[in-house]
Amino acid sequence: MPRRAISDPTEEQPSAAPFLPEQLTLPALKEAAGSCRGCHLYRDATQTVFGAGKRSARVVLVGEQPGNEEDQKGRPFVGPAGKILDRALEDAGVDRDEAYVTNVVKHFKFERRGKLRIHKKPNALEIRACLPWLAAELEVLKPRVLVCLGATAAQALLGRTFSVMAQRGKVIPTPLAEYAVATVHPSSILRQQTSEEREKALHDLIADLRVVAQLLDRP
Ligand code: URA
Ligand code: SF4
Repeated sequence: MPRRAISDPTEEQPSAAPFLPEQLTLPALKEAAGSCRGCHLYRDATQTVFGAGKRSARVVLVGEQPGNEEDQKGRPFVGPAGKILDRALEDAGVDRDEAYVTNVVKHFKFERRGKLRIHKKPNALEIRACLPWLAAELEVLKPRVLVCLGATAAQALLGRTFSVMAQRGKVIPTPLAEYAVATVHPSSILRQQTSEEREKALHDLIADLRVVAQLLDRP
């Protein structure tokens, strides 16, 4: 009796996997990601924003997705959140040359409000679609420390139910790196209401990143 093929869910779900290059190197990955059509997010964004940093970087910091400025410039963490991150890394004593920065999702997702493009959270399908890029970056870099910036990165990489607030600054076991540490997203500091709250939030982010600096200093 003829029977309809059981559908393969992986074929129906958006995925970057078919766009990955054969050769896993950072330049090859970056180039291939530039023409990724693995999900619909490429359509409205300006360009792919791939990770940036040296092949020798021992710490990989993962955000959510590029913002407005990153979308325009084509580089991760070059906008307001990036400035906070740079300052926090410096204060924590993490050498910028040791740091590779990237995102869970490589295209900017937004909603137009007049002239503004307002950041929209990527959904579970978009995150899953884009993860092959991040998995490949981690495979090439094999970092000592994986830093998840915010809940999107932490839940995508450390588990769906991971709580940043409960576990921030702690060393988390992971198969993706020697160590993992989660902390808040630097943009959360910008959302604090008062200057005291902002200062406290920045101080706490720096404290979490000091844990990362210590892990990097271990022999
Ligand atoms: N926020 C992110 O999560 N990533 C960026 O690259 C910029 C802002
Ligand atoms: Fe590909 Fe990721 Fe962009 Fe979707 S968001 S098109 S999966 S690079």
